[in-house]
Amino acid sequence: MISRNDGKTYDTPDHFHCPTRRRSSTGAPPSPVDAHRGLLQRSRVFYRQKHLLAIEGLEPPEISHLLDLAESYVLLNRSGKTQRDLLRGRTLINLFFEDSTRTRTSFELAGKRLGADVINMSVSTSSVNKGETLIDTATTLNAMHCDLLVVRHDQSGAPNLLSKIVDAAVINAGDGTHEHPTQALLDALTIKRHKGRIGGLTVAICGDITHSRVARSNIHLLTTMGNSVRVVGPPTLMPAEVADLGVAVFHDMAAGLAGADIVMMLRLQRERMARGLVPSAREYFRFYGLDHQKLALAKPDALVMHPGPMNRGVEIDSAVADDPQRSLIREQVEMGVAVRMAVLDTLSRGPGNEP
Ligand code: CP
Repeated sequence: MISRNDGKTYDTPDHFHCPTRRRSSTGAPPSPVDAHRGLLQRSRVFYRQKHLLAIEGLEPPEISHLLDLAESYVLLNRSGKTQRDLLRGRTLINLFFEDSTRTRTSFELAGKRLGADVINMSVSTSSVNKGETLIDTATTLNAMHCDLLVVRHDQSGAPNLLSKIVDAAVINAGDGTHEHPTQALLDALTIKRHKGRIGGLTVAICGDITHSRVARSNIHLLTTMGNSVRVVGPPTLMPAEVADLGVAVFHDMAAGLAGADIVMMLRLQRERMARGLVPSAREYFRFYGLDHQKLALAKPDALVMHPGPMNRGVEIDSAVADDPQRSLIREQVEMGVAVRMAVLDTLSRGPGNEP
């Protein structure tokens, strides 16, 4: 049974039991390929959306399905087995109006591993620079019969707007300060693989909450799956309405980290900040930067995450970021490819997107 933080409960019937762990009649675990095949058959049943625009509004079975399928892709990727026929003949366009290393590259890799034709639109050399609007750019790409459109934009709501105009399935790769749904899914997969579950944990999300779409998506996912979520940061970087999202608010790192299973650090987003919200990087690190001394206040087996890119010495000390016993940061990147494969695969079978 999953108990959401709003009191709603979900039974854990068969569909919650991951085929990657279900054993055959001989007692042997299923092969990665068999487990994966079982999950593919369930995509249409458990994920009924045409797009992935936000975590807010998704139900636990939808999130669980994406995580289970992503887990099967981790096993397949690690075993070197490719699935190059699943998206053969489909076109994926990466449309990034903002800089990205991890998200853009992992969507490209994910699409290629599934056999899609992948196009990276470089906005800096596109007709956007001649004044073409977002809508005209999207309708132009739509006329080329793109199937999957991955969009990153500095304006909150841009992917949502495009989803109403184009025929393609739209995936939000981060919009302004709104949401970054695939980041929250990859974070959840990383947590689940280390803690054995994605529910009943205490997660402290620390730093620049105001400007963080990663924080918002993680808050929605983690509370929906029945975790206790804390947000920790200075009052100047804490949105006034954040407590309405079902989280506990802390301005003191020691109190916010006490008893946490997971410490999720966020980048200080200076490019989105008005001046004067943070006195200096040095002072910010003193009060809110994660070093081993502050980490010792969390549970002894607490694990550290960061979505990247990191500002070392500002929100996180290098010794913590690179600590192989405590840091999951590199593994988060690996999970990003698997999660994006699961999302592309699921949406390509969804309503209106079938081959
Ligand atoms: N975490 C994340 O979105 O990283 P990029 O900006 O490099 O894509």
